[in-house]
Amino acid sequence: MLIARRADRLAQVLAGLPEGSGETLVLDVVRLGAPQEALSHLAGRGLVPDLLVNNAGIGDYRPFADADLDRLHAMIDLNSRALLDWTHAFVQGMRERRRGAIIQVASGVVFVPAPNMAAYAATKAFVHALGDTLPFELQGSGVRYLTLYPGATESEFFLGAGMHRPPGTVPARQVAREGLAALQRGKRKHVVGAFNRFGVRIMPLLPRGFVARMATKMTQ
Ligand SMILES: NC(=O)c1ccc[n+]([C@@H]2O[C@H](COP(=O)([O-])OP(=O)(O)OC[C@H]3O[C@@H](n4cnc5c(N)ncnc54)[C@H](OP(=O)(O)O)[C@@H]3O)[C@@H](O)[C@H]2O)c1
Repeated sequence: MLIARRADRLAQVLAGLPEGSGETLVLDVVRLGAPQEALSHLAGRGLVPDLLVNNAGIGDYRPFADADLDRLHAMIDLNSRALLDWTHAFVQGMRERRRGAIIQVASGVVFVPAPNMAAYAATKAFVHALGDTLPFELQGSGVRYLTLYPGATESEFFLGAGMHRPPGTVPARQVAREGLAALQRGKRKHVVGAFNRFGVRIMPLLPRGFVARMATKMTQ
């Protein structure tokens, strides 16, 4: 079940999938009650959710002092609050059925100081922090929980965030593939891409100021 707000884009994505492999639902995931609406929709179709992927997210690239506060609030609402609401709504049934899985799409930005993306990084740090504990709380419940950390990925994200596309983007398909494979292996956290995984290991050894300057150069 593909969920987003733009019906035409959903139809486009569905058309690219093998026949009969999915359905779409036009819904603003931020709206209070949206997860319950999705659950009733699924129930009405005789479907039980085995996997929830909280993927919808937006960015905002500009100095924090210049940011539009309404945009920052919308970003917190989508990236953090809606993700919490959907997780809370779906995990209850999964725990009852003793079967299910949740993938939270965070971002590699949580591992580095990222000038001009402070608030975005903070929304993803919320997702990162949930993922530090929830998998342990859910241990033995039959519900698997993975936090996924993509690096720069080919998508419309940069357009929406008002930033240049950094070098070394990977296809979104790779993010999905690695995420599902990591979930299958029972991992709790997964950084997408060998280069990014190396980066996450090496970053803590480098001076933070140097990393911040590097991050600025790559995104400007
Ligand atoms: N691209 C990157 O380099 C990158 C790196 C790290 C992490 N991420 C994360 O990856 C996730 C996916 O982003 P992306 O790169 O695929 O960006 P994208 O191309 O801009 O896609 C965002 C998706 O979220 C949906 N969406 C946005 N607001 C929504 C709402 N209120 N209700 C329902 N759906 C909504 C959009 O559909 P509609 O507009 O039709 O609703 C769209 O399908 C995000 O969480 C992002 O933070 C991206």
